[in-house]
Amino acid sequence: MLSYHQQSISILLKDKMVLYNNREKGIIKIKTLTLEDLGDIVRVEEEAWEPELRASRETFIERLKRFPEGFIGCYVNGKLAGITYGHPIKKIEKTWFHNSYEGAFNPKGEVFYIVNVGVSNYYVGAGVGSKLLDKNKELAKKLKSKKIVLGARNLESNLHFYKKNGFVVVGKIKNYFPEDKESNGIGVLMESVL
Ligand SMILES: CC(C)(COP(=O)(O)OP(=O)(O)OC[C@H]1O[C@@H](n2cnc3c(N)ncnc32)[C@H](O)[C@@H]1OP(=O)(O)O)[C@@H](O)C(=O)NCCC(=O)NCCS
Repeated sequence: MLSYHQQSISILLKDKMVLYNNREKGIIKIKTLTLEDLGDIVRVEEEAWEPELRASRETFIERLKRFPEGFIGCYVNGKLAGITYGHPIKKIEKTWFHNSYEGAFNPKGEVFYIVNVGVSNYYVGAGVGSKLLDKNKELAKKLKSKKIVLGARNLESNLHFYKKNGFVVVGKIKNYFPEDKESNGIGVLMESVL
């Protein structure tokens, strides 16, 4: 029996990205999100992450206010299926822990930091996450960032996802996500030079 994501594919048809999985097919659209989308953002976070790994509603409000341009959603048939948030930072510090780069936000920073990527489990494996990373790259280039950095959980599937999208491993992060039993709390610092 295949899981949902193994049965999902997306195909470019007449300039429109079309997603197929075992439950539906649909047109994929990308949009910058606002506070009006908060309910859907929280729903996607719940569908993407285990309870102990989810960001709170308050955290999303802070992010939407801090750098609204950096909060991007991917819709399938009008339903929010995946979210990502990123913003420029001053520089990379050597001592790093989960989401600590958020505090280094600087609209004029030359490094673009992807804070999170989350795809509803209903749509994983259908190209939604990759589309969101493409949009992050587009935004980073528009902001004239020199490179993009992110912290990933030290899981083969996650590292594969980011490597396939042009990121390389540049270091290990201890105490990245202490609550994350699956990765033993270890994170991986990855970057993509633009
Ligand atoms: C990791 C994640 C963002 C990938 O998004 P996605 O839309 O499923 O990814 P895409 O369809 O664009 O790419 C699929 C690739 O990612 C890999 N992948 C990573 N995690 C996966 C997952 N949970 N399910 C399916 N594929 C996954 C697949 O191996 C696949 O590679 P392939 O095409 O060579 O087979 C998404 O699965 C997710 O949100 N997971 C839970 C939260 C999370 O771990 N976020 C990343 C934080 S570091």
